[in-house]
Amino acid sequence: MKTIHNPFITRGYIPDECFCDRVSETQRLAKSLMNGNDVVLFSPRRMGKTGLITHVFEREEIKRPYYTFFVDILHTTSLREFTFFLGKEVFRALQPAGKKVLDKLVSALKSLQGKITYDSVTGQPSFGVSLGDIQRPEFTLEEIFNYLDNAGKPCLVAIDEFQQINEYEDGNVEALLRGHIQKMKNCHFVFAGSKRSIMSAMFQSPARPFYKSADPLELKALDKDIYSDFVGKMFNEYGKRIAKAVVEYVYDLFEGYTYYMQRVFNEAFASIDRGEECSIEVIRMSIDNILLMNEVQFAELMSSLTENQKRVLSAIANEAHVRNVNTSAFINRYQLSTASVVNAAIRKLLKEDIITVDLKEYSIPDKFLWLWVNRQYNNA
Ligand SMILES: Nc1ncnc2c1ncn2[C@@H]1O[C@H](COP(=O)(O)OP(=O)(O)O)[C@@H](O)[C@H]1O
Ligand SMILES: [Mg+2]
Repeated sequence: MKTIHNPFITRGYIPDECFCDRVSETQRLAKSLMNGNDVVLFSPRRMGKTGLITHVFEREEIKRPYYTFFVDILHTTSLREFTFFLGKEVFRALQPAGKKVLDKLVSALKSLQGKITYDSVTGQPSFGVSLGDIQRPEFTLEEIFNYLDNAGKPCLVAIDEFQQINEYEDGNVEALLRGHIQKMKNCHFVFAGSKRSIMSAMFQSPARPFYKSADPLELKALDKDIYSDFVGKMFNEYGKRIAKAVVEYVYDLFEGYTYYMQRVFNEAFASIDRGEECSIEVIRMSIDNILLMNEVQFAELMSSLTENQKRVLSAIANEAHVRNVNTSAFINRYQLSTASVVNAAIRKLLKEDIITVDLKEYSIPDKFLWLWVNRQYNNA
């Protein structure tokens, strides 16, 4: 522990001693996968899906018997890109397994023959392929899946931000993937996603290919008491202190969203010395610092919006969560002209992911942006 400079980790792999709770979720996810089931894991963004999956994949009972793969498809827009990033991840993850395993992979990927590159020292193949080299993504994808199903060890594939396949320009990727996945015996999947309505439509509507094909697991906010104890313990281990009420203030402000709390405690932890206490003042300063660091990016975002869009955004910021955005009550309270103007602004803000809608409530998912908009436009 003492080798870790700051125990509040905000990116990359979280070592066990800096990982808070998720005990029951870890067990459930591991159990479903080890029993041969696929899992659909959903939560809002930055709640801890990726962290949980990585945590489960690092457990001995998973790590030893399985090959594990993790692909984030948030930025992909076609089946070709999906196939490309999956292929790249399969090569990356199998590097430690050695040349024999990789050679078998290369011979399975017939459609990419001649495109694979070899390390001049070790002779190990790597995925030197470029996007354009994948000429028939549906063939290459089938080859990758066939390989995984016969890889010598059972495989677990986590696909993060799975709802993104709905945005692909190719038709029917959902049915294509389901067709392959259904046939696989040796390979199981975690489909993670942060858009509740889209994910539940995919997995709960009888008309959709993935209907009831995976065990659902919803990741909620960490428990307030457990998280408070965790934060207190992290500070104590480095000879620093923090009162429970201060942790709870941060928890409430960010509604328990893991990333925003961890980011603030990371900053606060770094700004006090051994023997000192993290007061509410330290927390306020830490939040100010973080907002300042994001200021350029936030200002740029605002400059891309029209005045109407900004007014709707700041109204939503002021409410934190709002259900009826096109009622006259809401429109009058914020002097927002007409319902159709509001609806147009909402559409644009949703499309750009600046706001989100969950269970019919609109809010700003980036809690730092939310605070910043409130300060800039609502004099909060
Ligand atoms: N159990 C946990 N304990 C400590 N930090 C966590 C935990 N789960 C997630 N985090 C941190 O919270 C942030 C968001 O987690 P992430 O897994 O990326 O969320 P998601 O995939 O749902 O968007 C990351 O900075 C990660 O380091
Ligand atoms: Mg994630």
